[in-house]
Amino acid sequence: MGRDDGDPPLLGTCNADPPVHLEPKDASMKTPVAEPKPAPTDSPPQLLDVSSVSKSFGGVHAVKEMSLSLRTGELRAIIGPNGAGKSTLFSIIAGRLIPNTGSIRLREEDIDALPPHIRARRGISIMYQNPPAFPGLTVLQSVMLGAHRLGRTGFIRAILSTPGQRREERSLREAAVDALEMLGLSSLAHRQTTELTFGQLRRVQLARALASKPELLLLDEPASGLHRGERTEFGKVLQKLHSEGLSMMLIEHDVDLVMSVADSVTVMNLGAKLAEGTPAEIQSNPDVISAYLGEVVPRNGSDH
Ligand SMILES: Nc1ncnc2c1ncn2[C@@H]1O[C@H](COP(=O)(O)OP(=O)(O)O)[C@@H](O)[C@H]1O
Ligand SMILES: [Mg+2]
Repeated sequence: MGRDDGDPPLLGTCNADPPVHLEPKDASMKTPVAEPKPAPTDSPPQLLDVSSVSKSFGGVHAVKEMSLSLRTGELRAIIGPNGAGKSTLFSIIAGRLIPNTGSIRLREEDIDALPPHIRARRGISIMYQNPPAFPGLTVLQSVMLGAHRLGRTGFIRAILSTPGQRREERSLREAAVDALEMLGLSSLAHRQTTELTFGQLRRVQLARALASKPELLLLDEPASGLHRGERTEFGKVLQKLHSEGLSMMLIEHDVDLVMSVADSVTVMNLGAKLAEGTPAEIQSNPDVISAYLGEVVPRNGSDH
């Protein structure tokens, strides 16, 4: 199945620093002019650091010595063939899997010992590759399931009502309503999730991940199974979240989607990091082209 992408979109962000002008230093001369400003520190703080993480299942080395980092507000795509270890890496970051070696830091703090629900409270939210379905719940209720991590009581107790729990339920409902609104799903709030199209269900799953008001959103193939038009819409949603400053990591097979939304790309192969860079760098990296992007024609590559 060949791809017909003669001219793939490249939307890497361009944070070119203004040129720094260095004055010669002359100790004898004090200038009344304001000192040259330090170069603008426009690189946002580090949010996540994954350091030399490995995970084996029996004899399968699913993740091998993986390291990567994410700055606040960055959208980093993780690409690689099936079985490369991408989902395992996300599960390790979310705390669902304990790595054999390595460590994870969130805002400079070691979170290795924290269970998944505490990591969720610290702001890590994950949309799994195959999210669980919740038959019998309305769209709003199922999104509230995502928001309940913000609350102190469990979801079931929250809907069983004491005054405090009712207050809490109200705030969870507000968070869920906000998430539905952001994704254009308000009109579906009281529908059963079983009545939705696949594309709508994917949006609901994203709304559920957003309802906990995450600081770091991990999206594991959120656009898989969507048709072309839905993918384009999904890309716009990602761009909107990105423009609002949400930090994200995105596992996605659709190279066009990845290249159009990501600031940075990490390529995994056989559990390890194969390459890392901007979308443009990745698209012209020969190792990546031969290992993974084989079908994609590099834009400025081989013209000799
Ligand atoms: N729970 C598990 N038990 C055993 N092997 C697993 C488990 N999860 C993943 N693997 C194996 O680890 C490797 C990486 O899987 P995965 O992280 O799902 O890759 P990707 O998401 O890149 O497709 C694969 O060989 C897979 O079969
Ligand atoms: Mg996977």
